[in-house]
Amino acid sequence: RVSYVNGRYLPHVQAAIHVDDRGHHFADSVYEVLPVVKGRLCHLDQHLDRLERSLGALAISWPVPRRVFPLILNQVISRNRLTDGLVYIQASRGAAPRNHAFPLDTPSSLVVSAWPHSGPATALIEQGVRVVSQPDLRWKRPDIKATGLLPNVLARQSAREAGAFEAWLINDRGFVTEGSATNIFIVAPDGALLTHPADNSILAGVTRTNVLKLARNLGLEVGERPFTLAEALRAREAFITGTTMMVMPVVKVDESVIGDGLPGPITRRLRELYLDLRR
Ligand code: PDD
Repeated sequence: RVSYVNGRYLPHVQAAIHVDDRGHHFADSVYEVLPVVKGRLCHLDQHLDRLERSLGALAISWPVPRRVFPLILNQVISRNRLTDGLVYIQASRGAAPRNHAFPLDTPSSLVVSAWPHSGPATALIEQGVRVVSQPDLRWKRPDIKATGLLPNVLARQSAREAGAFEAWLINDRGFVTEGSATNIFIVAPDGALLTHPADNSILAGVTRTNVLKLARNLGLEVGERPFTLAEALRAREAFITGTTMMVMPVVKVDESVIGDGLPGPITRRLRELYLDLRR
């Protein structure tokens, strides 16, 4: 394996960042995870647009100009002979003696790595998964794709310990915001497809955006509005979206079965359409 660190392509075992990197000290860094299908980057512009928003929101400068990113990412893909997998980008405010305030004249750092990944097992997709609800303990700006993911890590671990696939985060007002690393959709009893609006309280997933587009093209009634856990338990169908799992059916939330306990028709249709979009 080969990874990129601040201008150099290194054997993965030697690919290290400085101990004074602010990503390490303060999680003062942002990231992206992009799908690679048949050796090609998917949704590149959407991911770079979001990276631009994350960097901008934190006033971190581009580590290299935006137009150089495709070059570096494709180098990492080809040097790893990657066909189907994921590319990881992390940009931090750079390495400087530990001090909370921003350092002066310090270049941002950039790491790019990649690994093979083919999504969840087919059996899981066909059966659907169970999720568990967890309090949303994150800061008030999860719309920024920052690497400070401790609440997400703890929520996902609780889910694993409960034998579930993902944690659904519930905010102080009782609304279902998103998963620990996924966005959440439900099909309400009236047939409308609902997902939390892309405000400051969720990460606007690239998969979410693309699935919404597909749903609107299908002529489905789509509502970007918050819904409660109680509403979700009454849903006909539910699914989660994200780069690593695309569209994953959810058939059980805590101890409640969703719909008839099988992946629903709208979920399956959107998954097929999304797969076509990536091919
Ligand atoms: N996670 N919500 C959160 C909190 C996420 O971390 C992610 C992605 C998503 C889905 O976004 P997208 O569709 O752009 O992948 C939603 C990445 C994959 C991760 O941290 O591994």
